[in-house]
Amino acid sequence: MADKVIRTIGVLTSGGDAPGMNAAIRAVVRTGLGKDLKVRGIRRGYQGLLNEEIIDLSARDVSDTIQRGGTILQTARCEEMRTEEGQQKAAAICKKYGIDGLVVIGGDGSFAGAQKLSRLGINTIGLPGTIDLDIACTEYTIGFDTAVNTAMEAIDKVRDTSTSHERCSIIEVMGRDAGYLALWCGIANGAERILMPEEHDYNEEAIVEDIQECRKRGKKNYIIINAEGIGDSMNMAKRIEEATGMETRATVLGHMQRGGSPTCKDRVYASIMGAMAVDLLIQGKSNRVVGYRHGEYLDFDIDEALGMKKGIPTYQYEIARELAL
Ligand code: ADP
Ligand code: F6P
Repeated sequence: MADKVIRTIGVLTSGGDAPGMNAAIRAVVRTGLGKDLKVRGIRRGYQGLLNEEIIDLSARDVSDTIQRGGTILQTARCEEMRTEEGQQKAAAICKKYGIDGLVVIGGDGSFAGAQKLSRLGINTIGLPGTIDLDIACTEYTIGFDTAVNTAMEAIDKVRDTSTSHERCSIIEVMGRDAGYLALWCGIANGAERILMPEEHDYNEEAIVEDIQECRKRGKKNYIIINAEGIGDSMNMAKRIEEATGMETRATVLGHMQRGGSPTCKDRVYASIMGAMAVDLLIQGKSNRVVGYRHGEYLDFDIDEALGMKKGIPTYQYEIARELAL
Protein backbone atom coordinates (compact mmCIF):
# COMPACT_ATOMS: atom_id res chain seq x y z
CA MET A 1 0.00 0.00 0.00
CA ALA A 2 1.13 3.56 -0.59
CA ASP A 3 2.73 5.27 2.35
CA LYS A 4 1.60 8.81 1.49
CA VAL A 5 -1.10 10.81 -0.24
CA ILE A 6 -0.57 11.05 -3.98
CA ARG A 7 -0.22 14.60 -5.29
CA THR A 8 1.80 14.22 -8.46
CA ILE A 9 1.71 11.35 -10.90
CA GLY A 10 3.91 10.49 -13.83
CA VAL A 11 3.17 8.47 -16.95
CA LEU A 12 5.53 6.78 -19.38
CA THR A 13 5.41 4.31 -22.25
CA SER A 14 8.09 1.65 -22.49
CA GLY A 15 9.14 -1.21 -24.79
CA GLY A 16 7.51 -1.61 -28.20
CA ASP A 17 4.81 0.96 -28.94
CA ALA A 18 1.21 -0.11 -29.50
CA PRO A 19 -1.85 1.64 -30.95
CA GLY A 20 -4.04 2.84 -28.09
CA MET A 21 -1.15 3.96 -25.89
CA ASN A 22 -2.18 7.57 -26.58
CA ALA A 23 -5.73 6.85 -25.43
CA ALA A 24 -4.29 5.47 -22.19
CA ILE A 25 -1.98 8.47 -21.70
CA ARG A 26 -4.90 10.84 -22.35
CA ALA A 27 -7.03 9.02 -19.79
CA VAL A 28 -4.25 9.12 -17.18
CA VAL A 29 -3.72 12.84 -17.76
CA ARG A 30 -7.37 13.86 -17.70
CA THR A 31 -8.37 11.58 -14.83
CA GLY A 32 -5.42 12.84 -12.82
CA LEU A 33 -6.12 16.50 -13.52
CA GLY A 34 -9.83 15.97 -12.88
CA LYS A 35 -8.92 14.66 -9.43
CA ASP A 36 -6.66 17.60 -8.67
CA LEU A 37 -3.38 15.84 -9.22
CA LYS A 38 -0.41 17.29 -11.04
CA VAL A 39 0.46 15.11 -14.04
CA ARG A 40 3.93 14.75 -15.50
CA GLY A 41 4.81 13.00 -18.72
CA ILE A 42 8.10 11.17 -19.01
CA ARG A 43 9.46 10.95 -22.53
CA ARG A 44 11.25 7.89 -23.98
CA GLY A 45 10.38 5.37 -21.29
CA TYR A 46 12.84 4.57 -18.53
CA GLN A 47 15.68 6.03 -20.60
CA GLY A 48 13.90 9.37 -20.57
CA LEU A 49 13.29 9.07 -16.84
CA LEU A 50 17.00 8.53 -16.26
CA ASN A 51 17.74 11.51 -18.53
CA GLU A 52 15.14 13.59 -16.67
CA GLU A 53 13.04 14.17 -19.79
CA ILE A 54 10.05 15.13 -17.72
CA ILE A 55 7.32 17.56 -18.75
CA ASP A 56 4.12 18.84 -17.17
CA LEU A 57 1.03 17.73 -19.02
CA SER A 58 -2.19 19.70 -19.35
CA ALA A 59 -5.56 18.54 -20.64
CA ARG A 60 -4.81 20.34 -23.91
CA ASP A 61 -1.51 18.50 -24.36
CA VAL A 62 -3.49 15.32 -24.96
CA SER A 63 -6.12 16.91 -27.21
CA ASP A 64 -6.45 15.25 -30.59
CA THR A 65 -4.44 12.20 -29.59
CA ILE A 66 -7.02 9.47 -28.96
CA GLN A 67 -7.14 8.59 -32.66
CA ARG A 68 -3.38 8.60 -33.20
CA GLY A 69 -1.15 5.54 -33.35
CA GLY A 70 2.27 5.39 -31.70
CA THR A 71 2.88 7.16 -28.41
CA ILE A 72 3.07 10.93 -28.02
CA LEU A 73 5.52 10.38 -25.15
CA GLN A 74 7.70 8.18 -27.36
CA THR A 75 9.18 4.99 -26.05
CA ALA A 76 12.53 3.29 -25.63
CA ARG A 77 14.30 0.26 -24.33
CA CYS A 78 16.77 0.99 -21.56
CA GLU A 79 19.49 -1.37 -20.40
CA GLU A 80 20.48 0.84 -17.46
CA MET A 81 17.05 0.33 -15.89
CA ARG A 82 17.80 -3.38 -15.55
CA THR A 83 20.62 -2.58 -13.11
CA GLU A 84 20.15 -1.86 -9.41
CA GLU A 85 22.06 1.39 -9.82
CA GLY A 86 19.76 2.47 -12.65
CA GLN A 87 16.67 1.61 -10.65
CA GLN A 88 17.88 3.60 -7.66
CA LYS A 89 18.68 6.55 -9.88
CA ALA A 90 15.21 6.32 -11.48
CA ALA A 91 13.52 6.26 -8.05
CA ALA A 92 15.60 9.24 -6.90
CA ILE A 93 14.60 11.20 -10.03
CA CYS A 94 10.92 10.42 -9.40
CA LYS A 95 11.34 11.78 -5.87
CA LYS A 96 13.20 14.85 -7.14
CA TYR A 97 10.27 15.68 -9.43
CA GLY A 98 7.72 14.92 -6.72
CA ILE A 99 6.37 11.95 -8.67
CA ASP A 100 4.83 9.74 -6.03
CA GLY A 101 2.69 7.67 -8.38
CA LEU A 102 3.86 6.34 -11.73
CA VAL A 103 1.80 4.74 -14.51
CA VAL A 104 3.92 2.49 -16.74
CA ILE A 105 2.40 1.46 -20.05
CA GLY A 106 4.22 -1.49 -21.60
CA GLY A 107 4.78 -5.21 -21.38
CA ASP A 108 6.23 -7.63 -18.83
CA GLY A 109 9.72 -6.10 -19.06
CA SER A 110 8.33 -2.66 -18.31
CA PHE A 111 6.36 -4.09 -15.38
CA ALA A 112 9.58 -5.58 -13.98
CA GLY A 113 10.95 -2.01 -13.94
CA ALA A 114 7.78 -0.76 -12.22
CA GLN A 115 8.10 -3.54 -9.64
CA LYS A 116 11.63 -2.41 -8.79
CA LEU A 117 10.52 1.22 -8.46
CA SER A 118 7.67 0.18 -6.21
CA ARG A 119 10.15 -1.56 -3.91
CA LEU A 120 12.09 1.70 -3.80
CA GLY A 121 9.08 3.65 -2.59
CA ILE A 122 7.49 4.89 -5.83
CA ASN A 123 3.88 3.79 -6.17
CA THR A 124 3.51 2.14 -9.55
CA ILE A 125 0.67 0.85 -11.68
CA GLY A 126 1.27 -1.05 -14.93
CA LEU A 127 -1.02 -0.95 -17.95
CA PRO A 128 -0.68 -3.80 -20.47
CA GLY A 129 0.52 -2.22 -23.72
CA THR A 130 1.75 -4.59 -26.41
CA ILE A 131 0.58 -5.83 -29.79
CA ASP A 132 1.75 -9.31 -28.79
CA LEU A 133 -1.06 -10.12 -26.29
CA ASP A 134 1.55 -11.97 -24.27
CA ILE A 135 0.78 -10.74 -20.76
CA ALA A 136 -0.48 -13.65 -18.68
CA CYS A 137 -2.79 -11.89 -16.24
CA THR A 138 -4.96 -10.32 -18.93
CA GLU A 139 -7.03 -11.46 -21.91
CA TYR A 140 -6.60 -8.02 -23.49
CA THR A 141 -3.55 -5.86 -24.15
CA ILE A 142 -3.61 -2.33 -25.55
CA GLY A 143 -2.78 -2.48 -29.27
CA PHE A 144 -3.45 -6.11 -30.08
CA ASP A 145 -6.87 -5.46 -31.59
CA THR A 146 -5.56 -2.78 -33.94
CA ALA A 147 -2.48 -4.78 -34.89
CA VAL A 148 -4.40 -7.96 -35.61
CA ASN A 149 -6.90 -6.06 -37.77
CA THR A 150 -4.07 -4.31 -39.64
CA ALA A 151 -2.39 -7.65 -40.28
CA MET A 152 -5.67 -9.30 -41.26
CA GLU A 153 -6.42 -6.64 -43.88
CA ALA A 154 -2.90 -6.90 -45.32
CA ILE A 155 -3.11 -10.69 -45.46
CA ASP A 156 -6.47 -10.48 -47.29
CA LYS A 157 -4.69 -8.48 -49.99
CA VAL A 158 -1.85 -10.96 -50.29
CA ARG A 159 -4.43 -13.71 -50.47
CA ASP A 160 -6.13 -12.11 -53.50
CA THR A 161 -2.97 -12.16 -55.58
CA SER A 162 -2.01 -15.55 -54.20
CA THR A 163 -5.31 -16.98 -55.49
CA SER A 164 -4.94 -15.31 -58.91
CA HIS A 165 -1.51 -16.84 -59.39
CA GLU A 166 -2.28 -20.11 -57.57
CA ARG A 167 0.66 -19.60 -55.28
CA CYS A 168 1.73 -20.49 -51.81
CA SER A 169 2.16 -17.36 -49.67
CA ILE A 170 4.15 -17.19 -46.50
CA ILE A 171 3.17 -14.12 -44.53
CA GLU A 172 5.29 -13.20 -41.55
CA VAL A 173 3.57 -11.41 -38.70
CA MET A 174 5.14 -9.94 -35.56
CA GLY A 175 5.64 -11.93 -32.41
CA ARG A 176 9.19 -12.76 -31.44
CA ASP A 177 8.15 -14.84 -28.46
CA ALA A 178 4.37 -15.08 -28.77
CA GLY A 179 2.10 -16.50 -31.46
CA TYR A 180 -1.22 -14.78 -30.72
CA LEU A 181 -1.07 -12.46 -33.73
CA ALA A 182 -0.24 -15.47 -35.90
CA LEU A 183 -3.01 -17.58 -34.37
CA TRP A 184 -5.68 -14.90 -34.72
CA CYS A 185 -4.66 -14.07 -38.30
CA GLY A 186 -4.53 -17.77 -39.05
CA ILE A 187 -8.17 -18.12 -38.05
CA ALA A 188 -9.35 -14.75 -39.41
CA ASN A 189 -7.60 -15.17 -42.76
CA GLY A 190 -8.39 -18.85 -43.16
CA ALA A 191 -4.75 -19.89 -43.36
CA GLU A 192 -3.75 -23.45 -44.10
CA ARG A 193 -0.83 -23.32 -41.63
CA ILE A 194 0.12 -21.27 -38.60
CA LEU A 195 3.70 -21.30 -37.37
CA MET A 196 4.23 -19.94 -33.88
CA PRO A 197 7.28 -19.51 -31.66
CA GLU A 198 5.57 -21.72 -29.09
CA GLU A 199 5.90 -24.61 -31.59
CA HIS A 200 9.49 -24.33 -32.74
CA ASP A 201 9.63 -27.95 -33.84
CA TYR A 202 7.22 -27.52 -36.77
CA ASN A 203 7.60 -30.06 -39.52
CA GLU A 204 8.38 -28.59 -42.94
CA GLU A 205 8.06 -31.96 -44.66
CA ALA A 206 4.51 -32.25 -43.37
CA ILE A 207 3.78 -28.80 -44.80
CA VAL A 208 5.13 -29.84 -48.19
CA GLU A 209 2.93 -32.96 -48.15
CA ASP A 210 -0.07 -30.90 -47.08
CA ILE A 211 0.49 -28.42 -49.93
CA GLN A 212 0.50 -31.30 -52.41
CA GLU A 213 -2.66 -32.76 -50.84
CA CYS A 214 -4.41 -29.39 -50.89
CA ARG A 215 -3.62 -28.92 -54.58
CA LYS A 216 -5.17 -32.31 -55.30
CA ARG A 217 -8.26 -31.18 -53.39
CA GLY A 218 -8.51 -28.16 -55.68
CA LYS A 219 -7.20 -25.40 -53.43
CA LYS A 220 -6.09 -22.39 -55.41
CA ASN A 221 -3.64 -21.06 -52.88
CA TYR A 222 -1.90 -22.07 -49.69
CA ILE A 223 -1.49 -19.49 -46.95
CA ILE A 224 1.09 -19.92 -44.22
CA ILE A 225 1.08 -17.41 -41.38
CA ASN A 226 4.55 -17.43 -39.92
CA ALA A 227 5.37 -15.65 -36.66
CA GLU A 228 8.52 -13.54 -36.45
CA GLY A 229 9.82 -15.88 -33.74
CA ILE A 230 10.11 -18.65 -36.36
CA GLY A 231 11.13 -16.16 -39.06
CA ASP A 232 13.26 -17.22 -42.05
CA SER A 233 10.28 -16.66 -44.37
CA MET A 234 12.33 -15.88 -47.50
CA ASN A 235 14.38 -19.08 -47.27
CA MET A 236 11.33 -21.07 -46.26
CA ALA A 237 9.62 -19.87 -49.46
CA LYS A 238 12.56 -21.05 -51.59
CA ARG A 239 12.60 -24.46 -49.90
CA ILE A 240 8.86 -24.94 -50.23
CA GLU A 241 8.82 -23.89 -53.89
CA GLU A 242 11.64 -26.30 -54.63
CA ALA A 243 9.98 -29.20 -52.83
CA THR A 244 6.43 -28.66 -54.12
CA GLY A 245 6.87 -27.02 -57.50
CA MET A 246 4.23 -24.50 -56.38
CA GLU A 247 5.34 -20.90 -56.84
CA THR A 248 5.89 -19.48 -53.37
CA ARG A 249 6.31 -15.90 -52.19
CA ALA A 250 7.14 -14.50 -48.78
CA THR A 251 5.80 -11.23 -47.38
CA VAL A 252 7.09 -9.79 -44.12
CA LEU A 253 4.50 -7.39 -42.72
CA GLY A 254 6.87 -5.90 -40.15
CA HIS A 255 6.35 -2.69 -38.23
CA MET A 256 3.24 -1.59 -40.12
CA GLN A 257 1.49 -3.84 -37.59
CA ARG A 258 2.57 -1.59 -34.75
CA GLY A 259 1.27 1.65 -36.27
CA GLY A 260 -2.00 3.15 -37.36
CA SER A 261 -5.08 4.62 -35.78
CA PRO A 262 -6.34 2.45 -32.90
CA THR A 263 -9.58 0.52 -33.27
CA CYS A 264 -12.60 1.46 -31.22
CA LYS A 265 -11.86 -1.42 -28.85
CA ASP A 266 -8.29 -0.27 -28.24
CA ARG A 267 -9.42 3.32 -27.64
CA VAL A 268 -12.15 2.33 -25.20
CA TYR A 269 -10.25 -0.33 -23.23
CA ALA A 270 -7.13 1.83 -23.05
CA SER A 271 -9.18 4.79 -21.83
CA ILE A 272 -10.81 2.74 -19.08
CA MET A 273 -7.50 1.21 -18.03
CA GLY A 274 -5.81 4.62 -17.97
CA ALA A 275 -8.50 6.06 -15.73
CA MET A 276 -8.40 2.99 -13.52
CA ALA A 277 -4.64 3.31 -13.04
CA VAL A 278 -5.10 6.78 -11.57
CA ASP A 279 -7.96 5.63 -9.34
CA LEU A 280 -5.80 2.78 -8.03
CA LEU A 281 -3.01 5.24 -7.17
CA ILE A 282 -5.49 7.50 -5.39
CA GLN A 283 -6.76 4.48 -3.44
CA GLY A 284 -3.20 4.02 -2.20
CA LYS A 285 -2.35 0.99 -4.30
CA SER A 286 1.08 0.25 -5.71
CA ASN A 287 2.87 -2.56 -7.56
CA ARG A 288 -0.34 -3.42 -9.41
CA VAL A 289 -1.07 -4.14 -13.04
CA VAL A 290 -4.45 -3.58 -14.64
CA GLY A 291 -5.89 -6.46 -16.63
CA TYR A 292 -9.11 -7.57 -18.27
CA ARG A 293 -10.57 -10.99 -17.57
CA HIS A 294 -14.02 -12.54 -18.02
CA GLY A 295 -15.57 -9.19 -18.94
CA GLU A 296 -14.12 -7.29 -15.99
CA TYR A 297 -11.27 -4.83 -15.48
CA LEU A 298 -9.19 -6.08 -12.56
CA ASP A 299 -5.88 -5.31 -10.91
CA PHE A 300 -3.20 -7.80 -9.97
CA ASP A 301 -0.08 -7.70 -7.86
CA ILE A 302 2.85 -7.23 -10.29
CA ASP A 303 4.89 -9.98 -8.60
CA GLU A 304 2.00 -12.41 -9.10
CA ALA A 305 1.27 -11.16 -12.63
CA LEU A 306 4.89 -11.68 -13.68
CA GLY A 307 4.80 -15.20 -12.24
CA MET A 308 1.76 -16.22 -14.31
CA LYS A 309 2.16 -18.31 -17.47
CA LYS A 310 0.20 -17.93 -20.68
CA GLY A 311 0.20 -20.60 -23.36
CA ILE A 312 -1.41 -20.77 -26.78
CA PRO A 313 -4.90 -22.26 -26.34
CA THR A 314 -4.53 -25.70 -27.94
CA TYR A 315 -8.23 -25.97 -28.78
CA GLN A 316 -8.13 -22.74 -30.80
CA TYR A 317 -5.05 -23.92 -32.65
CA GLU A 318 -6.79 -27.23 -33.47
CA ILE A 319 -9.84 -25.37 -34.73
CA ALA A 320 -7.65 -23.30 -37.04
CA ARG A 321 -6.27 -26.53 -38.50
CA GLU A 322 -9.71 -28.10 -38.88
CA LEU A 323 -11.13 -25.06 -40.64
CA ALA A 324 -8.35 -25.18 -43.24
CA LEU A 325 -9.81 -28.40 -44.68
P1 ADP B 1 8.11 -4.94 -22.78
O1 ADP B 1 7.82 -3.99 -21.70
O2 ADP B 1 7.25 -4.73 -23.99
O3 ADP B 1 8.15 -6.38 -22.30
P2 ADP B 1 11.01 -4.97 -22.86
O4 ADP B 1 11.14 -6.36 -22.39
O5 ADP B 1 11.88 -4.50 -23.97
O6 ADP B 1 9.54 -4.62 -23.37
O7 ADP B 1 11.20 -4.04 -21.58
C1 ADP B 1 11.10 -2.65 -21.69
C2 ADP B 1 12.07 -2.02 -20.74
O8 ADP B 1 11.71 -2.34 -19.39
C3 ADP B 1 13.51 -2.47 -20.87
O9 ADP B 1 14.19 -1.82 -21.91
C4 ADP B 1 14.06 -2.07 -19.52
O10 ADP B 1 14.32 -0.70 -19.47
C5 ADP B 1 12.88 -2.37 -18.59
N1 ADP B 1 13.07 -3.70 -17.99
C6 ADP B 1 12.95 -4.89 -18.59
N2 ADP B 1 13.22 -5.90 -17.73
C7 ADP B 1 13.54 -5.31 -16.57
C8 ADP B 1 13.94 -5.81 -15.28
N3 ADP B 1 14.05 -7.11 -15.04
N4 ADP B 1 14.17 -4.91 -14.31
C9 ADP B 1 14.05 -3.58 -14.53
N5 ADP B 1 13.69 -3.06 -15.71
C10 ADP B 1 13.44 -3.90 -16.71
O1 F6P C 1 5.96 -4.92 -29.59
C1 F6P C 1 6.22 -6.26 -29.63
C2 F6P C 1 7.04 -6.56 -30.83
O2 F6P C 1 6.40 -6.04 -31.94
C3 F6P C 1 7.36 -8.00 -31.05
O3 F6P C 1 6.35 -8.74 -31.65
C4 F6P C 1 8.57 -7.91 -31.89
O4 F6P C 1 9.31 -9.05 -31.85
C5 F6P C 1 9.29 -6.75 -31.29
O5 F6P C 1 8.29 -5.92 -30.74
C6 F6P C 1 10.13 -6.01 -32.28
O6 F6P C 1 10.53 -4.81 -31.74
P1 F6P C 1 11.57 -3.81 -32.40
O7 F6P C 1 11.68 -4.13 -33.83
O8 F6P C 1 10.97 -2.49 -32.13
O9 F6P C 1 12.83 -4.02 -31.65
